[in-house]
Amino acid sequence: MCGIIGYTGTKQAVPVLISGLSALEYRGYDSAGISVYEEGIITIKTEGRLKNLTNRIKAGRKIKGHTGIGHTRWATHGEPSERNAHPHLSSRLSLVHNGIIENYQELEQMLSSEGYRFRSETDTEAAAHLIDYFYKQSKDPVAALHAAARAIRGSFAFAVMFKGDRENLYAVRSGSPLICADTPNGSYLASDIPAILPFAKEYYQLPENVVAVLSPKGINFFTADGAEIIPEKSQITWSVEAAKKCGYNHFMLKEINEQAEALRNTVLPRLRDGVPYFDCDILDRNIEEIGEIKIIGCGTAMHAGLVGKNVIERFARIPVSVEIASEFRYGNPILRKDTLVILISQSGETADTIAALELAKSAGAKTLAIVNVLGSTISRLADYVIYTWAGPEISVASTKAYTVQCAVLYQIAFKLALVRHQISEGQCRDLCERQANSLPAAIDAALKMSGRIKRLSEKIAEYENLFFIGRGIDAEICKEGSLKLKEISYIHSESYPAGELKHGTISLIDANVPVIAVITVSQVLDKTISNVREVKSRGATVFSVCTKAAAEAVEPMSDYTLVLPETDEIFAPVVAIIALQILAYYTAVARNCDVDKPRNLAKSVTVE
Ligand code: M6R
Repeated sequence: MCGIIGYTGTKQAVPVLISGLSALEYRGYDSAGISVYEEGIITIKTEGRLKNLTNRIKAGRKIKGHTGIGHTRWATHGEPSERNAHPHLSSRLSLVHNGIIENYQELEQMLSSEGYRFRSETDTEAAAHLIDYFYKQSKDPVAALHAAARAIRGSFAFAVMFKGDRENLYAVRSGSPLICADTPNGSYLASDIPAILPFAKEYYQLPENVVAVLSPKGINFFTADGAEIIPEKSQITWSVEAAKKCGYNHFMLKEINEQAEALRNTVLPRLRDGVPYFDCDILDRNIEEIGEIKIIGCGTAMHAGLVGKNVIERFARIPVSVEIASEFRYGNPILRKDTLVILISQSGETADTIAALELAKSAGAKTLAIVNVLGSTISRLADYVIYTWAGPEISVASTKAYTVQCAVLYQIAFKLALVRHQISEGQCRDLCERQANSLPAAIDAALKMSGRIKRLSEKIAEYENLFFIGRGIDAEICKEGSLKLKEISYIHSESYPAGELKHGTISLIDANVPVIAVITVSQVLDKTISNVREVKSRGATVFSVCTKAAAEAVEPMSDYTLVLPETDEIFAPVVAIIALQILAYYTAVARNCDVDKPRNLAKSVTVE
């Protein structure tokens, strides 16, 4: 949450900072600000979207300076306002912060008694004054940042510029991500890769509690005991184009349309002799050691886990449980020696998922991360990592990341099933071949149905409450479809296993509460049809999203039927989710919602 950018070098800082902030706006968008070193440190902050800041900058005199920091905020402490926006200033410095300082009240008390005055309602201001306090004593920025890092409880990524130090930026982090890049034109720091995509080809992940000193000539890294280290560099594999809208009205629509390619990119490199090969010990050489699986994630990533549970249990007959990371971390999980814990995260930086991973590791379980961002915290902490190749996902509502997470879980299911002799090598090859070829074709065919789905969306947009129903794997797809719709259109929706409605919830159904029924599982077709009949007879308008095989049976009681492109039944739910994503997208558009930046949200949730 919140975006940080910093630059020092030969270029003018303001355009670099604005470019970085616009690439990061998806991380938070309730206020923004910059500090630039001119004669002294100039700071400009505004409430609201980044355009308010850029308008203010344009309206003023030109700021000339080659060193600066910028921030786009997702408020945790203090309402979104200019006063609470970053950078925060102290006597000798300007600072931007991501994360949450848990002991800020304690620090505020101590610093107030030292004469510091607080002007905002944020936890961040305590950090600004604390670093200033240590700097006043040591006159050493590196020592001051280390001292502050020791005194602070919580998560933080700080970028700091000191008065009288025109060329250098300082950064330290713990629990919140921060990357740095040195280039011939200067040095950059950012909370996330898209901010530096136009400027750098490789980057350092700043290690925890290491202070980075960025100068126009390069970056130095110092540990708390004063040693200088050189962290490992990672290549940036994403193109600049990948982080642009490329003619689409919204990133979400662009990302929905990228799914067939993302799926191929993720699946094809993991086929060897036609069967899955992950280049990962636990799945290739020691796979027999796995006796049970726990899948952990948040939001959409957790929903992908539910699809994973369904296919792994079905094909490999291994027990799988799926847990919400924020519950798992404070639960009392039972982890066995043969438990494989799979952590799923697009960003690789979700605080709750990181905590769950740490808990699983400390309990001795083997951990495998399925992550989209190279070098992210989760990818580095887990024992094993499988990357999804979705490219950057900018829209807050996750779409292509979900599809490729599901794709990897299908591959894991096929591999486990093969090793456990649940399917033959021929069957495994056949499944993989269809996943890599027929499924992307069906996804593309679903995308071509956008016009029809848009017309259905215009009807859905009129309601304020609705239900999604489905059975088996369709029930899991419904959860994701419902989340997508709620997240961006603000229509309240609930997702229910179709057979469960009559145990209470059906009392909510009437003519004002439509039902979206997802029907792809032939085994329970008749049962789901009966459930559709039940809601229809209570007055609901029914929208069916179904396979051709189900269409004939459901059409008589369905007001609107969307027949999905043909594909193998086991992949049909993946095609169904594409339709539900498009449905959510156009519903949000019809309701004039800000699709890529839904209210109250931010892309990666790096705080608890
Ligand atoms: O980066 P992660 O995959 O760990 O993020 C997890 C969730 O915060 C995320 O999937 C969220 O639910 C999406 N905004 C949903 O569209």
